[in-house]
Parts: sequence; C-alpha cells; structure tokens
Amino acid sequence: MDIKEIQRILIVGAGTMGQQIGLQCAMHGYQVTIYDIDPAMLETATAQIKTYAAHLVTAGHLSEVEAGAALARISTNGDPAEAAQADLLSESVPEEPELKARVLAQFNQLCPLHTIFTTNTSMLLPSMFAEATGRPAQFAALHFHQVVWESNVVDIMPHPGTAPETVALLQAFAKRIGQIPIVLQKEHNGYVFNSMLSALNRAAISLAAEGVASIEDIDRAWMGVMKTPIGPMGILDVIGLKTAWDITDYWARTLDDPELQKNAVFLKKYVDQGQLGVKTGRGFYSYPDPAYQQPGFLEGE
Ligand SMILES: NC(=O)c1ccc[n+]([C@@H]2O[C@H](COP(=O)([O-])OP(=O)(O)OC[C@H]3O[C@@H](n4cnc5c(N)ncnc54)[C@H](O)[C@@H]3O)[C@@H](O)[C@H]2O)c1
Repeated sequence: MDIKEIQRILIVGAGTMGQQIGLQCAMHGYQVTIYDIDPAMLETATAQIKTYAAHLVTAGHLSEVEAGAALARISTNGDPAEAAQADLLSESVPEEPELKARVLAQFNQLCPLHTIFTTNTSMLLPSMFAEATGRPAQFAALHFHQVVWESNVVDIMPHPGTAPETVALLQAFAKRIGQIPIVLQKEHNGYVFNSMLSALNRAAISLAAEGVASIEDIDRAWMGVMKTPIGPMGILDVIGLKTAWDITDYWARTLDDPELQKNAVFLKKYVDQGQLGVKTGRGFYSYPDPAYQQPGFLEGE
C-alpha cells in the first residue's frame, strides 16, 4: 500500500487523545471520522476540537482559514459500520486490555481489508491484540504524546508479526501529520519517552502516597532543579488521573507489586471523586491557572 492511498482516518474513542489525534490528522489534510460508543462524547469532542483549533489560531500555529478547513474535514459518527470506511484506524479507547481487543475485533468485521490498524495504548503491547485485529501484518502501535501538536513525537512499535511495509507506511504517515517517528526495534512496555517518564511518575506518586512530601513540594523539587514549567504531579494531571490509575492498577495486579498497589489506592481516591486532572478542572491542582503556573510557586509563596 502506498502512502497516497491513505486518505480517510478513523479515530475510535473520542476522548482526550482521539480528539487531538483527529485534529492533528485533519490539520494535515486528512478526512477524519471520529467514532465513540457514547454519543454524548461525540458532542463533547466536537466542541473541544473547536476549542483546540481556536487556541491554535490564537497561538499563531494556524490561520483562521486553515482552522476552518481542518474542522470541515472532521466528522463524527455513532454508527460503527459507517465510520469503518477508512484507510487507517487509530484506536484510543480506555487502557483496558479486554476492551481494546473487543473494539479492534469489532472493527475488523467492519473495516475494508486494506485498512491499517493502530493502537494508541500507553503501556500495553500490540502483540496482545494482534490476533483480535484479524490482520496482524497490518497492525502496530502508533503512540502519540500529549499535547499532540506540541509534543510531536510518535512511537511506532511493531509486534513480531507486523509487516515491514506497515512500519514504513506508518513512518511516512507520521511525517505527513507533522510528527517525529521513533521506531522501536522490539516490543517494550511504555515505548521510549514514556519508559523514562513512567519511572519519574512512579517515584513521584510513591512520594505522595507515602506522605513523604506534599504534591506541591514534589513538583517544586523537580521544577526547581530541572528548570521545567511543570513537575511530575502536574504532568499526571495533564495525562489524566483515570489513565494514570488504569496503568498503575494494571501493573500492580500484573506484577503483584506492593508499591504500585499503594499508588493505585492513592490515585483511586481522586478518580472516585471525579478529580481526573485538567479535563475535569481538578486533579492534584485546580484548572485553569494551576498553582504551579503562578509566580512565587517555586519560592513556596
Ligand atoms: N491521556 C494521555 O496522555 C495519553 C497519551 C498517549 C496514549 N494514551 C492512551 O490513549 C488511550 C485513550 O486515552 P484517553 O486519555 O483519550 O482516554 P479518555 O477516557 O479521555 O477517552 C476514551 C474514550 O473511549 C470511549 N470508549 C469507551 N469504550 C468504547 C468503545 N467500546 N468503542 C468506542 N469508544 C469507546 C469513551 O467513551 C471515551 O470517550 C488509552 O489507551 C491511553 O492509555 C493516553
């Protein structure tokens, strides 16, 4: 398959990542259909994508005309059979292995035979779903980073049965949508950047769960030394605390790891209260204008 034959993109899952990946593809000329099992999410996604586009215009990344054209290329569809008429599928449903396998198997029944399947999983391996896709040679992880247009790196992670042509196609596709492709030479939980980030996040959550330091002081320590505008707890708010809990809980159970179990209990308290991070206006911090962006934060004022 030639890169020119990829024209229609199907995004499965209209949450944070599906919205951003959809807009990124549309900004680079692709026709995008977004499908979600929850019709209310399709409305939320449409509104949020408009907000993202407006921010990109304000920030000077897009002209009004370009933003309008990108938005016009995006449609939502609650009918999976109609949505399935695409050349490349990008899956961004929650980080639950059984759910991802079910959704990929569902779309295997609906999509044309040539459709390339990709998963945006954070910590799982494509080999776990290769069979479910029914087209293992045309399947790999294509993993984005938030915010997609700013942190423009994608991991391309094949499983042992992925065809080399699929990897080459995904590399070309990544470049066409303004991303820097990182091709993994073997499967690895957490890819490249996230492997480094998750070690930091785990240490930060453990410090908070153990009550060693306050959330603010954990971030202050990192930001003060590394001179970054955000610390690990703030980053977790951006990732989303439900996603962070899903990942921590999965590995706590899979590895039977007591430190991770404690961290999962700590994160679950926020999830149960609906404090999911930036997307709900409250997580470890309150949004907009979280404390770590205020003058004097590093000084503890
Ligand atoms: N949040 C991040 O920073 C980030 C970064 C990279 C990858 N990821 C991964 O991307 C995936 C999605 O994360 P998110 O933060 O966008 O999650 P999210 O919870 O914001 O969105 C998930 C969406 O999937 C929908 N969904 C649930 N079941 C479905 C089904 N059967 N069919 C179709 N849609 C369904 C939900 O209604 C929801 O709208 C996860 O695997 C996550 O690990 C997240």
